[in-house]
Amino acid sequence: MTHTLEELIPDYIQGLPAYVAGKPVEEVEQELKIHAVKLASNENPLGPSPKAMEAARRALGDANWYPDGGSKRLREVLGLRFGVKAEEIFVGLGSSEIIDLASRVLLKPGSEGITSEGSFALFSIAIRASGGKLILTPLKNFGFDLEAIARAVTPQTRIVYIANPNNPTGTAFGAAELGAFMKKVPGDVLIVLDEAYREYADRGDLPKAMELFREYNNLLTLRTFSKVYGLAGLRIGYGIGHPTLVAEMNKLRTPFNVTSVGQAAALAALDDAEHVERSVEINRAERKRLYEELRKLGLAPVASETNFLFVPIGPRAKTLCDELLQEGVIIRPLGWMGLPEAIRISVGSPAENTKLIGALAHALARPAGSGKTVPADEFSNRPV
Ligand SMILES: Cc1ncc(COP(=O)(O)O)c(C=O)c1O
Repeated sequence: MTHTLEELIPDYIQGLPAYVAGKPVEEVEQELKIHAVKLASNENPLGPSPKAMEAARRALGDANWYPDGGSKRLREVLGLRFGVKAEEIFVGLGSSEIIDLASRVLLKPGSEGITSEGSFALFSIAIRASGGKLILTPLKNFGFDLEAIARAVTPQTRIVYIANPNNPTGTAFGAAELGAFMKKVPGDVLIVLDEAYREYADRGDLPKAMELFREYNNLLTLRTFSKVYGLAGLRIGYGIGHPTLVAEMNKLRTPFNVTSVGQAAALAALDDAEHVERSVEINRAERKRLYEELRKLGLAPVASETNFLFVPIGPRAKTLCDELLQEGVIIRPLGWMGLPEAIRISVGSPAENTKLIGALAHALARPAGSGKTVPADEFSNRPV
């Protein structure tokens, strides 16, 4: 008997939503024939560190060789920086790969994974892609409700994903809240603490994940080179956790997951503290300006600890994104993340932010729905 392909693919794979990435600038420019700015994927508007670019250029000359499949040098350097052993570090193809592998190591049909509504879409996708049952707790004050997550743990729970600061809401929790949460959650549930935006946070009481890791070996902390280090295009991130978990994830990854160019750039970027500081400072100033300008326009952005602003808009959110697109400003509608009445705006360069503010003022001055409309779904719902 023959089967159609659909019949052969497990339901939990067929039912997965496709990840919807921010629209590439080139695509918008080609389709609309205008100059566009992208404030949709929380990238660093300053670009990569010059030292990282130089190291990447040098590494290109050896691109005929396979990379160091274990990212040994990078793990050694990170180990020294954080006071952990190299075997407690996993270097991944972006932190996205580690989010996926953690679920693949721990989940199977019948087991459960928990995250919050209104958080990074890959958490839910990773849980479901591994055949696990996804449990979502509601947001509280636009942030993780750690108490609700602790209450949602059952004997089937194997993994919990939390992002601090959170994407897309931009809020963060403090060390005391995480400490209380870790005490409540059983030691056989892995807590994945995703700190992709940590460097941008102003809050002084953020958890010290490495200290907590000494106390709780069910903690896996994720960091990335995609945000403040400006290397999103090179796809490199890392996780620090229990050596057994790291060893199992190493079995599942592809043998040469991280490129030699990415490893070289990441090593050089770690050495360029000045670039990181400058990126954080510019972001802080521009985030404040954007926040104030949005308030002047009558909007109510949520105070952010990141390089983006979450703005509740109401039913017009999606149309507003489409209207901005017509003016060459790409921001993120959040309907596909379960937040159809909000938008997310990445903090760009001063000039990009000025363009956004102008376009937003223009769109908001028009009565809702009177703008030229885009074949909206053609633009914003297409997975890329
Ligand atoms: C919370 C969070 N974690 C992880 C990532 C993915 O980072 P990477 O580029 O390292 O895969 C993102 C990217 O937007 C993110 O927002």
